[in-house]
Amino acid sequence: MLRMRMLALLLAVALPSSMAACSDPFTYTYNKIKYDNAEESGRSYTLYDIYPGGCLWNFTTAKAICEQDGLQLAPHGEAQSLAVLRELCAKNRYTCWMDGVPADPSADLCYLMSQEGDVHLQGCDQPVRFVCRDQPCSNPFTYRYNKIKYNNTKESGRIYTLYDIYTGGCLWNFTTAKAICKQDGLELAPHGEAQSLAVLRELCAKNRYTCWMDGVPADPSSDLCYLMSQEGDVHLQGCDQPVRFVCRQRAAAGRAAARGVAVPSEGVLSLSSHGYDYRLYTVDAAVRMSYHGAVEFCQELGAGWDLVPYWDDSSNAYAAVLQLCADLQFTCWLKRKDDSRTGSSGPMLCPLMAADGGLQMQGCEQDVRFVCRKAQRAT
Ligand SMILES: *[C@@H]1O[C@H](CO)[C@@H](O)[C@H](O)[C@H]1NC(C)=O
Ligand SMILES: *[C@@H]1O[C@H](CO)[C@@H](O)[C@H](O)[C@H]1NC(C)=O
Ligand SMILES: *[C@@H]1O[C@H](CO)[C@@H](O)[C@H](O)[C@H]1NC(C)=O
Repeated sequence: MLRMRMLALLLAVALPSSMAACSDPFTYTYNKIKYDNAEESGRSYTLYDIYPGGCLWNFTTAKAICEQDGLQLAPHGEAQSLAVLRELCAKNRYTCWMDGVPADPSADLCYLMSQEGDVHLQGCDQPVRFVCRDQPCSNPFTYRYNKIKYNNTKESGRIYTLYDIYTGGCLWNFTTAKAICKQDGLELAPHGEAQSLAVLRELCAKNRYTCWMDGVPADPSSDLCYLMSQEGDVHLQGCDQPVRFVCRQRAAAGRAAARGVAVPSEGVLSLSSHGYDYRLYTVDAAVRMSYHGAVEFCQELGAGWDLVPYWDDSSNAYAAVLQLCADLQFTCWLKRKDDSRTGSSGPMLCPLMAADGGLQMQGCEQDVRFVCRKAQRAT
């Protein structure tokens, strides 16, 4: 009796679970094997491999799984896609579906890459593996641009960056271009400065590119924005057009550069804590500034950025700075509670965290490291 009940129990457990392994192709946890294709600026391809006992699916299902994941089935008609599938599929002796519409769509045949790395048209119902890849330009803020830099020695080494795209990439309207510069701690190069115009002639016009330029037109209601044409002329045109753009270092960064201090994208230590993003400038001490220089530097990173107020217990600000500075034996500026001069005599003093983690008031003119922060919710 007991034995029969155990058997029934075993069956009840074993049957549904062996079916469950195959039940839903859209919720199965695939063994995802990624390939970041350097030839396409790191575009990501993912082989949806299965674990032992997992199931393979037909063409329609494979394509739908990619789409569910915000990706696209890698197509047969592109050299880069083929090259990556040879790595992910053929080298592993896997057959893989490839996207594409055959010349005769009524034939019910679909493209696949064979184990040998050849492309064939075969029945769409076969269960084989598949590779999904990133959409070409689903998100302008995370796309990896082909950034072409220009060091403008006439502005003491201010850096301008053309945000070029790779084949298949997308161009964006004025608003998006400006927002991308800001996200990167930069500003859209403006139309109203001779230096900016000269650099854009080098980066854009010489390459026959049209580029957005910042600036508010005389009639802001006109819905027109400044751009430099392929010929190097400045025009006001509709703000919706998809064209390239150039971001440049902000003024404080430019002044830092003038002092021989390049604004780093490297050597910056980052930390997220209690809803704030913190950045230490810089680990290698390439950027050290006076108190006021540090305030200006942080604020020019964009809206919401500032030196860290040491008294803000609600966000554990002091602990975050301890982690970035004192834990690494660095001295760092903190924000003054009151930026107006207090007391009438003696030099102004500014708060800093000493390398031992203590809070000190010291002369504001010393060049030391500093930490900027911004609330994650602020724009
Ligand atoms: C593909 O497979 C799904 C189930 O995974 C099935 O519902 C569908 O009919 C199949 N489609 C084709 C065209 O074979
Ligand atoms: C820009 O050029 C100047 C002069 O050649 C050089 O000193 C400086 O390091 C350069 N800046 C960068 C970030 O490459
Ligand atoms: C600019 O493009 C973004 C999407 O990239 C869109 O959401 C926005 O409405 C566009 N703005 C204008 C002014 O065209």
